[in-house]
Amino acid sequence: NNFCVILAGGKGRRLWPCSRESYPKQFIDFFGSGKTQLQQTYERFAKIIPQENIFINTNEAYIDIVKEQLPNVPESRIMAEPIYRNTAPSVAWAAHRILKICPEANLIVSPSDQTVINEDAFKDNVIEGFEFVEKNNCLLTMGVKPTRPEPGYGYVQIGDNTDFDDIYKVKSFIEKPEREFARVFMENGEWYWNTGIFLSNVRYLADSLCKLLPVVLRKLDQDNEDWKMEDENLFVKENFPLYPNLSIDFGVLEKSDNVFLKKCDFGWADLGTWHGIYESMQKSENDNVVINSDVILENSHSNVIKLPKDKLAVINGLDGYIVAEKDNVLLICKKEDSSALVRKYVTEVQMK
Ligand code: GDD
Ligand code: MG
Repeated sequence: NNFCVILAGGKGRRLWPCSRESYPKQFIDFFGSGKTQLQQTYERFAKIIPQENIFINTNEAYIDIVKEQLPNVPESRIMAEPIYRNTAPSVAWAAHRILKICPEANLIVSPSDQTVINEDAFKDNVIEGFEFVEKNNCLLTMGVKPTRPEPGYGYVQIGDNTDFDDIYKVKSFIEKPEREFARVFMENGEWYWNTGIFLSNVRYLADSLCKLLPVVLRKLDQDNEDWKMEDENLFVKENFPLYPNLSIDFGVLEKSDNVFLKKCDFGWADLGTWHGIYESMQKSENDNVVINSDVILENSHSNVIKLPKDKLAVINGLDGYIVAEKDNVLLICKKEDSSALVRKYVTEVQMK
């Protein structure tokens, strides 16, 4: 009964220029491990959930990349969104397809841009989470203890304990707060980072999303004896553009009053931004983070370096910078400025 939806349709703009809209971060082997983020995410779940129950949701533009990277996933398990509408419509569609296949399903939804260090602990947490959502109509998000005031994540405030191990009622949820709030949240022990991984039973999830996106789902929701996947695909192609551009975090988690959090500790990091990568990765000498690159660093501190494998860089006297190159673009900027700069240039120069 256990199903999984992996979200792999993001544009990965914040890690530009290494992640490009034409080839975003989830499809890149960022650290030179031999596997892309998507492949690692898939394999992590394939150890826990039957492979035929794992769905990959992505944009039409990335279908060929997904097929190439996951050749064993059947076509019926890859869901192609015809237009970018963020994660809420994507999850709503997946929930409705799974509802048709198995109305008793329990579902875990996961981003594809994250690292998990302790896979055994992760597996235990997922199984315990499934047990909870099987018995309770709710959303259960996986939370981890914040280790820095990161404004790029969602923050979840927990309230009362439940009878289940490490599962708490959620009091409030704030997606991407100002840095000052993030600092307060970190210091107050009630707040956890939202990992973006959450569970629910499929009936409850489909129902909640249907209330939120009624236009979208009314038709998909009809109990139709001779439902065909092809008809559904056609319906989605025509109607997806009408859906709001909405993330599951803003759209559902922040609004729902029936959310729980499981405290997890499986060694988690989101690899979404240069700053986040710097903060969460192990530092070499002088606090530099060198990712799979050939570089001689002298007299330089607290930089992030990510260069093509065939390039040797010699850097002297540089402190607190990002140096990142991919194909025709080289980015050199102060670590703190990277998000704003990337936003500016990715849209202005349209360097896809
Ligand atoms: N299928 C599909 N369609 N996937 C999408 C879409 C879409 O339109 N947009 C984004 N995704 C995928 C991304 O590829 C990524 O794997 C995942 O959904 C999350 O999107 P991000 O854009 O990376 O979200 P975020 O990192 O800003 O925020 C989320 O993750 C944080 C932790 O990593 C939120 O859930 C935060 O609350 C959370 O703290
Ligand atoms: Mg992310």
